[in-house]
Amino acid sequence: MKKATKPAPKSVKKVAAATQGTNDDRLSPEEILRAFQSGEAKPYRLLDTGDGRKLEDVGGYSFNRQCPVAFWRAKKSPAEWRRVHAEHKRTDTGGGYWEQSGKTPPYWFTQVGRLVFKTKMTAFGHLGFFAEQAEQWDWFHDSIAARVATNANDDARPRVLNLFGYTGGSSIACALGGAVVTHVDAAKGVVDWSRQNAALNGVPEGRMRYAVEDCLVFLEREAKRGNRYDGLIMDPPSYGRGPNKEVFKLEDDVLKLLDRAKAVLKPSPMLFHFSCHTPGFTPVVLKELVLDIFPAFRDTHAIETGEMLVRESADGRPVPSGFYCRSLKKA
Ligand SMILES: C[S@@+](CC[C@H](N)C(=O)[O-])C[C@H]1O[C@@H](n2cnc3c(N)ncnc32)[C@H](O)[C@@H]1O
Repeated sequence: MKKATKPAPKSVKKVAAATQGTNDDRLSPEEILRAFQSGEAKPYRLLDTGDGRKLEDVGGYSFNRQCPVAFWRAKKSPAEWRRVHAEHKRTDTGGGYWEQSGKTPPYWFTQVGRLVFKTKMTAFGHLGFFAEQAEQWDWFHDSIAARVATNANDDARPRVLNLFGYTGGSSIACALGGAVVTHVDAAKGVVDWSRQNAALNGVPEGRMRYAVEDCLVFLEREAKRGNRYDGLIMDPPSYGRGPNKEVFKLEDDVLKLLDRAKAVLKPSPMLFHFSCHTPGFTPVVLKELVLDIFPAFRDTHAIETGEMLVRESADGRPVPSGFYCRSLKKA
């Protein structure tokens, strides 16, 4: 264990301590949000990448984590890379652990793109958000807001389903854009976390509904219930498990997932977004899969594909992290 080297910035300490209930004047989600909007707390920054690693500043705490695509050389010095709060290491069994060099609180907050996240270090090396999704969150928000602006009637708000929703980034972006969102994930812990993130971002009451369920099971039940959506987002993992240990493997289950997704969508849905990080699921593959299930999209929808990127804060070097295919109904 190395010695603690770096104190946390005061603003972050204050926010974290207050929400852990360690002092009497707890901050409300609105106050925390204001702290971020006033620039008091720092946004997420990708400081450097190279040699298979990434160096990040996450709301005032710095981390050194795996970055498999960073085949290039790092720009910062080895001393700068060592000056972090924690470094994540993988174990042979596929899990991992943090080697801590500085003190970090049980959780704290950071801003990623336009959203605020509760952040904590998980054994697997995740911090509660995927920064590469930030551009997609803007797309969700802006696409939905543009449609909602043409119809201010509350009953006509688009209904969006977010599968494998994790801590809620995409759901929150849609809800803030004006949609009513159903957020599905197998893990109760991350669904609770997404509720907290929704509060932090000021999502209006009644805009989010949550389900802790296996996505394939949820889709089957939702189709039977006759519920239909205007939009669907999915960011499936390569491999995952439902709450009852249902095995999900993207390679084997992708067509079943897409077929069941289609069954809960209205004819010619407004929005369909498919992203993933699984090798082989390139932008072309994602687009062909979408067209296989929704052939009419060729004429009715604007389809865009690409790589999800996080840019280094110093010079904007793009670091790819997965692929997306997004379809928006033409106006
Ligand atoms: C890659 S993350 C999704 C990231 C998220 N879209 C975001 O941008 O923040 C994968 C999520 O899928 C969930 N998951 C894995 N297998 C699942 C299953 N069979 N049904 C529902 N959720 C599952 C995990 O709990 C995890 O939260």
